[in-house]
Amino acid sequence: MKKIRWGLIGLGAIANDFASDLNRVSGTVIQGVASRSSTKAKDFAKKHKALKSYDSYDDLLADTVIDIVYIATPHHLHLEWTLKAIKAKKAVLCEKPLGVNAHQVRQMMTAAQSEKVFLMEALWTRFNPTVEEVLEKLKTNPIGKLRLLKADFCFHALDQSPEHRIFNLELAGGSILDIGIYPVFLAYILFGKPQEIKAFSQFHQGGSELQTSVLLNYQDCQAQLFSSFAFRSEMKAHLYGEKGQLCIDADWFQSDSYRLLTQEGEQVFNHPKKGIGFCHEIEAVNTALRNSKIEEARWTLQNSLELIEILDEIRNQVGAVYDFE
Ligand SMILES: NC(=O)c1ccc[n+]([C@@H]2O[C@H](COP(=O)([O-])OP(=O)(O)OC[C@H]3O[C@@H](n4cnc5c(N)ncnc54)[C@H](OP(=O)(O)O)[C@@H]3O)[C@@H](O)[C@H]2O)c1
Repeated sequence: MKKIRWGLIGLGAIANDFASDLNRVSGTVIQGVASRSSTKAKDFAKKHKALKSYDSYDDLLADTVIDIVYIATPHHLHLEWTLKAIKAKKAVLCEKPLGVNAHQVRQMMTAAQSEKVFLMEALWTRFNPTVEEVLEKLKTNPIGKLRLLKADFCFHALDQSPEHRIFNLELAGGSILDIGIYPVFLAYILFGKPQEIKAFSQFHQGGSELQTSVLLNYQDCQAQLFSSFAFRSEMKAHLYGEKGQLCIDADWFQSDSYRLLTQEGEQVFNHPKKGIGFCHEIEAVNTALRNSKIEEARWTLQNSLELIEILDEIRNQVGAVYDFE
């Protein structure tokens, strides 16, 4: 099996978790890690057994041994580093959201397609075993015609400074792009593009969007979605059909189980994830690269574009736009 040699850019919270899972996937090497700080890069490399550390993202991109770059910077830098990585002929797995808006995502798509380089948005939930099983189960129509999805993503972050990336407008902060993306993603993979979108937001001191309610209207069903940095919610996802309910257990975006409630009673289905949960996405990317694919069929660039178009509409409706856009 060909080893896939990964390079990591932006060594923050999620890069740490991701690196732990890279080391759980066979046929995977952490070839290099890059930070703006040399000490941080060295410490991270030691902790996660990376072969090299770089104090510049550009130097990592110049490492010809690296097959794929994982970009884990704040949102506003995804476009710049994805385009630079593609120019360096590296495959790219870029954290969500792929770009801040559809205009950015289109530029990234065009670059990847014209250079024939693999590019995917790191929407790990698409590869979560429970979510995969739910999509399969729904093909058998277990709860009848689907009528309503209720899903949210909320945690308490009011103790964070306004400079933190989740609130910082220069870094494309706000709940919609950071966590609201997940419930919208779930509605999108279940029902596709909505016919109508309505959204309302409340704002934090400093002007970033703090919490948002979204209603997506489809032909025969609706999605009630919510995101907030003001409190921790139950984080289950509920799907209601004419003949029963399906619940993805907490935390639904990284769940290990789901349950069906029908006339026959409750049935629980366990599908534990590997490691922290990134292993499935990593395995999917490794397989795509070994097969010389430039996209992963389960989460394509067209999917990322349609998702960000919905998020653009939500942000435009509530006025959560950034000066740099
Ligand atoms: N898939 C998931 O479950 C998940 C969860 C959380 C976040 N995310 C996504 O992952 C990305 C990073 O999130 P995170 O929570 O890991 O953020 P974080 O802890 O703040 O780390 C981001 C890293 O980006 C680098 N960076 C470069 N320019 C920066 C700047 N101007 N300000 C701050 N950091 C800068 C820094 O790394 P160096 O100092 O090493 O250069 C920093 O440590 C975001 O796109 C986020 O949406 C995904």
